[in-house]
Amino acid sequence: MHTTPLYRQLANHYLDAIRSGTLKTGERFPSIRLMMEKHAVSLSTAVQVCRELEDYGVLEARPRSGNYIRQPDTLPKTVVSTPPPLDTGAYLGIHEQVSSVLKASQRATIKVNFASAYCAPELYPLKILQEHMIKALRQDQHLLGVQGSTGGNLALRNILARRALTTKANLTAEKMVITNGATEAINLALRAVTQPGDTVAVESPTFYGLLQILESLNLRVLEVPATAHSGINLFALEQLLQSPERIRALIVIPNLQNPLGSIMPDANKARLVQLCAEHGTVLIEDDTYGDLVDTEQPLSTLKHWDCSDNVIYCASLNKTLAPGLRLGWISAGKWHERVEMLKHTQTRGCETLSQLAVGAFMKTPSYERYLRRLRKTLTQQRQQISAAITRYFPPGTCVTDPRGGTLLWVELPRHYSAMALFREALKVGIQISPGDIFSNTQRFDHFVRIGCGAPYSPKIDEALATLGRLLENQR
Ligand SMILES: Cc1ncc(COP(=O)(O)O)c(C=O)c1O
Repeated sequence: MHTTPLYRQLANHYLDAIRSGTLKTGERFPSIRLMMEKHAVSLSTAVQVCRELEDYGVLEARPRSGNYIRQPDTLPKTVVSTPPPLDTGAYLGIHEQVSSVLKASQRATIKVNFASAYCAPELYPLKILQEHMIKALRQDQHLLGVQGSTGGNLALRNILARRALTTKANLTAEKMVITNGATEAINLALRAVTQPGDTVAVESPTFYGLLQILESLNLRVLEVPATAHSGINLFALEQLLQSPERIRALIVIPNLQNPLGSIMPDANKARLVQLCAEHGTVLIEDDTYGDLVDTEQPLSTLKHWDCSDNVIYCASLNKTLAPGLRLGWISAGKWHERVEMLKHTQTRGCETLSQLAVGAFMKTPSYERYLRRLRKTLTQQRQQISAAITRYFPPGTCVTDPRGGTLLWVELPRHYSAMALFREALKVGIQISPGDIFSNTQRFDHFVRIGCGAPYSPKIDEALATLGRLLENQR
């Protein structure tokens, strides 16, 4: 199955032409009829290509004249959410949307959960970690009586720094802080480099948790289009960076983006790092999923391409190793001292026992063997769920085919409502993530994120068939 829909492939084709200057600003864009002829595509595909390019802000429809390549300086900003007032505890904007979805899920009795990005607990090496914990407690009877350092256990930081060398990132243990997951790492990064009211750009769509963090820190959000094909659209980003509004920071998930599953090509990573450095925009890298790539060859990080110490690297073990331990880390380069101070004032150091257990496991060859097995399992689970979606969902549904991870991003034909599906599915104990929570725009109201972290079973198959039936009722 080709996972990038034809209209997106064509849209990318034309974006490349605009980028390279083959199609210039102000020029007439090929007509719908010409596209149908030249690319042997249907009317609806040709129209979708134009719509996609309009979404990127590079195409402008002029009445009775056709489509034209847009002037870069008139490009619209994709979205700006106004910062919520500081003195209210009420959820506003995206946070309200996300909270209502999460709360509705918490109230329901869930039998099958497709909303989770985690693996099923049985896929994690829990027994081994428990054994390492018992060993650590035996070795140091005072362990629970002593507070750990703010930066975290140095042995674990050394292991993480050594592992990062394989992803070509040069992180030093001394300039790393162990955190409560990537969530705390990203919070720290943002607090270190922004002030309330600053503008921070994110990919669109992006993980809703990032949008919640931004809103909670009173930051303005700018969404930059991204595709499952290659992640953030650098052309659109470049235009935004040139606009008068200063973009203080940009958060990007370059590897196995949530929800798109995209992996940025190395050339794009290098260009992105360069662009941000040129415009004085701090690049915050969220590498939560990088270790879950299918291939043996590790993915490069943005940090690898960073020559000017402008990338803050954030990562987590919560998807790859043990969600219950909530371990993540941040390598903030020149902002390290500030991050360490913020960590100290916010939560102090993370507890030591889990760090010792994880460190003890990660330094053995069993860790790589475990990851290899996990990746294979996830590939199979994704394939099985993807095949079932093709079987049960309405014709015209598109599913991504990510090269790793736990997530599928499913595009329903436009007239279907993901939020209606979410509500109806909850009534029968099935939880999904509706596309609306991954953006402050309404662009993803017909998208659904499906988590593939659990082994395929008749129960999962039946739940997907039920989702298909619920969608049929929407017709
Ligand atoms: C892209 C991304 N970043 C960050 C997080 C949060 O990570 P953690 O659980 O380590 O705080 C998630 C969790 O789903 C995520 O998908």
